[in-house]
Amino acid sequence: MTEDIKKGLAGVVADVTAISKVNPETNSLMYRGYPVQELAATQPFEAVAYLLWNGELPDAGQLAAFRAAEREHRALTPAVKAAIDALPLDSHPMDEVRTAVSVIGAFETAGTGNVLDAVGTPEQNLQRSLALFAVLPAIVAYGQRRRRGQEIVQSRDDLDYAANFLWLTFGEEPDAVVVDAFNRSMILYAEHSFNASTFTARVITSTLSDMYSAVVGAIGALKGPLHGGANEAVMHIFDEIGSASEVSAWLDKALAEKRKIMGFGHRVYKRGDSRVPTMKAALDTLVEHYDRPDVAELYEKLESEFVSRKGIYPNLDYPSGPAYNLIGFDTLTFTPLFIAARVTGWTAHILEQQSRNALIRPLSAYDGVDERHISGYTPDTAAIDVQERPEEAAG
Ligand code: COA
Repeated sequence: MTEDIKKGLAGVVADVTAISKVNPETNSLMYRGYPVQELAATQPFEAVAYLLWNGELPDAGQLAAFRAAEREHRALTPAVKAAIDALPLDSHPMDEVRTAVSVIGAFETAGTGNVLDAVGTPEQNLQRSLALFAVLPAIVAYGQRRRRGQEIVQSRDDLDYAANFLWLTFGEEPDAVVVDAFNRSMILYAEHSFNASTFTARVITSTLSDMYSAVVGAIGALKGPLHGGANEAVMHIFDEIGSASEVSAWLDKALAEKRKIMGFGHRVYKRGDSRVPTMKAALDTLVEHYDRPDVAELYEKLESEFVSRKGIYPNLDYPSGPAYNLIGFDTLTFTPLFIAARVTGWTAHILEQQSRNALIRPLSAYDGVDERHISGYTPDTAAIDVQERPEEAAG
């Protein structure tokens, strides 16, 4: 039986989805049939969220109504703000966002009386998805401001999602070129089929647990550096290397120490991540805007050296890390930005799982000690108090 095991579920097709298609052969990713690079070039993030949940892009009227609804749910409630404020300033922002979502869930499902009712109707869950998507920028932005000792900034109703997110974080009206690069990154991060965090959300949903529990679990999965935490880890690597001229020596040492180079490699794409060229183009516009050619030099040098030595290509976290750095986000905020984007994909999958649920419960092969018995045990001794067990039996 052990030869049938697919360690890490690699190559296992676990279910059907209509939300996105990853094709490593053609190096393509489609959301509801649309190539992601076309969406990133033409759509606001709100339209992509709408697409993921509803299956179609919104028309002008639908988009306007959707944007109006998004604006209604942007503000932090006092309870969520208080929960964030109760955390140490040096707690990781991923833990901060995970806690905030948990608090939102406890309030939203309060009074439902039993676990079955907490699951909610499809309409309620679509509404919850929208509300989570709308409030996450305020949570992420407030986290960064709090750590910097800055006051909270309130949303601006005249700004769309991406511009408002930057406004909430920096308290300044962002330049259009920055909004555009940021919007593209959000779209590229929104969805990616059965990745680890999405699958976690589906596993939790499959037990008929509620959407908030599923999103909290997904955030936990995303935190790891083999998944979302890689964009943060890329920036640590850039900081460690310093400049393009140091790349060769740094890489010699890192590879000799058998380190994994964050931002490279992918479980599905083996010949390049389909999202990288679009995000690299967005990074290039930021490099020009902020006049930081040194960032592009380091990026390109590390990429060419690592690819030529190992044949392993960059993933989306590689260009997005330095892009977020140029925009001014703290390195620790990068993975929370990923949450804000991916919550759209997670919730789309939660809705899909709920619509045709089957409990996700795989099997395992046993590889432990052979069957053995408690010495002195007979069916009659089953009721003996633990305290009174003979020493050898308890051991
Ligand atoms: N740096 C150095 N070596 C790497 C590597 C990297 N980023 N990615 C893969 N490899 C090597 C592994 O060491 C392994 O080598 P080996 O066969 O000599 O042991 C081989 O390539 C296969 O890697 P493995 O980790 O088993 O493949 P996987 O499909 O399980 O891993 C990742 C995919 C994403 C977990 C892996 O590429 C990785 O750890 N990348 C860095 C983290 C990252 O950027 N994550 C974001 C993903 S979107």
